[in-house]
Amino acid sequence: MNILIVGGGGREHALAWAIAASPLCDKLICAPGNAGIAQEAECVAVAADDVDALVRLAQDKKIDFVVVGPEAPLVGGLVDRLGAVGIRAFGPSAEAARLEGSKGFMKDFCARHGIPSAAYARFAMPENAKAYIRDRGAPIVVKADGLAAGKGVTVAETIEEAEAAVEAAMQARAFGKAGAEIVIEECLRGEEVSIFALADGENHLLLASAQDHKAVGEGDTGPNTGGMGAYSPAPIATPALEARIEHEIIAPTVAGMAEDGVPYRGVLFAGIMVTDEGPKLLEFNVRFGDPETQVLVMRLKSDLLPALIAASEGGLGHFDLRWHDNAALVVVMAAKGYPGAYAKGSEIRGIEEAGGSEGAMIFHAGTKEENGRLIAAGGRVLGVAGSGPSVAEAQVSAYRAVDAIDWDQGFCRRDIGWRAVKN
Ligand code: AMP
Ligand code: GLY
Repeated sequence: MNILIVGGGGREHALAWAIAASPLCDKLICAPGNAGIAQEAECVAVAADDVDALVRLAQDKKIDFVVVGPEAPLVGGLVDRLGAVGIRAFGPSAEAARLEGSKGFMKDFCARHGIPSAAYARFAMPENAKAYIRDRGAPIVVKADGLAAGKGVTVAETIEEAEAAVEAAMQARAFGKAGAEIVIEECLRGEEVSIFALADGENHLLLASAQDHKAVGEGDTGPNTGGMGAYSPAPIATPALEARIEHEIIAPTVAGMAEDGVPYRGVLFAGIMVTDEGPKLLEFNVRFGDPETQVLVMRLKSDLLPALIAASEGGLGHFDLRWHDNAALVVVMAAKGYPGAYAKGSEIRGIEEAGGSEGAMIFHAGTKEENGRLIAAGGRVLGVAGSGPSVAEAQVSAYRAVDAIDWDQGFCRRDIGWRAVKN
């Protein structure tokens, strides 16, 4: 089969690495890709959110199956458009992608189907939102309704902070159209875990659990990022907790979407808060996590591609995936300044040595090759991963590889996995 992967980050490098190894994959193309993906696939300079150009590319290259990495083209209807020209794809329709594309849609859906989630209200008028905040008090959570590249959520510790978040989203339009409407939520306390499941519209298949670190600073402090590191399995995700999440959140979501006439196909990435009252859904993403995917593919023993095809065509009910017992942990190396302004163009050395160290794998995110040199070309630049019999050993393996990399314009957190290794 000819396969096209859409995207160019660490997640897509992980998907490309797994899919290139599949006996079903004859030719692998990636748009736009990066320097690491170029070792697995032919990279074509088409942007991941240019739906028209991606459909043309898939037709020109006689693609049989498209795997969509990021959320923007999903919400933008890429899978529907490919379907209309007879090309199969992994990922939800635009309507089903609203589970991520509109927080208000997701909250109403959960309320209608009895899926446990924070209490909430939706607002289109800032004055009403502020009145609600004053009535409820802090802490309270303010979310832009639409896609805001992970920046649209404020967990406000004070009423003033919450009101400022309302103004930023609705009046200053910090997130453009995405903040025209907002959701205000009860603040949940607990430990977070990410659960991934494939769905084919009717059946679902749970993948391994993972935890990520969103904050840029050690001890989980400072501004939120796309994710500074992740590990799998997540010790908090005991079989009993996973079973609850599967039965109380994942299965009713797949059934509820089908019942509402919007069958969900693709991957459901559930961000869960484990509260004293049990697991509650914080958010759905309609795509794989980045950097969680990097650790999932390292642990996957089975061929990923047939599972992605089954999610798109049906037949997941009969599917089983096998996993390594080994744990995996990935440390993100980012350009200094990220998630604020950062410089591009610095050279990275030592990748081969790092990748050759025991249990290690290097996933590229924002990289490009220039005259045989590896150059930083984004905020999150590398995912340096390690594996071992426990998360603690995977952590040692990952940081051994990090230490082999020579990149003075980069930084990383030194405490990825601290929750899992503290005992
Ligand atoms: P989201 O993009 O909705 O996952 O939100 C980003 C982060 O904000 C989550 O990973 C949580 O750490 C936090 N968050 C979101 N919703 C809530 C909530 N209702 N209570 C507490 N923290 C939240
Ligand atoms: N690492 C979190 C995300 O992919 O949204």
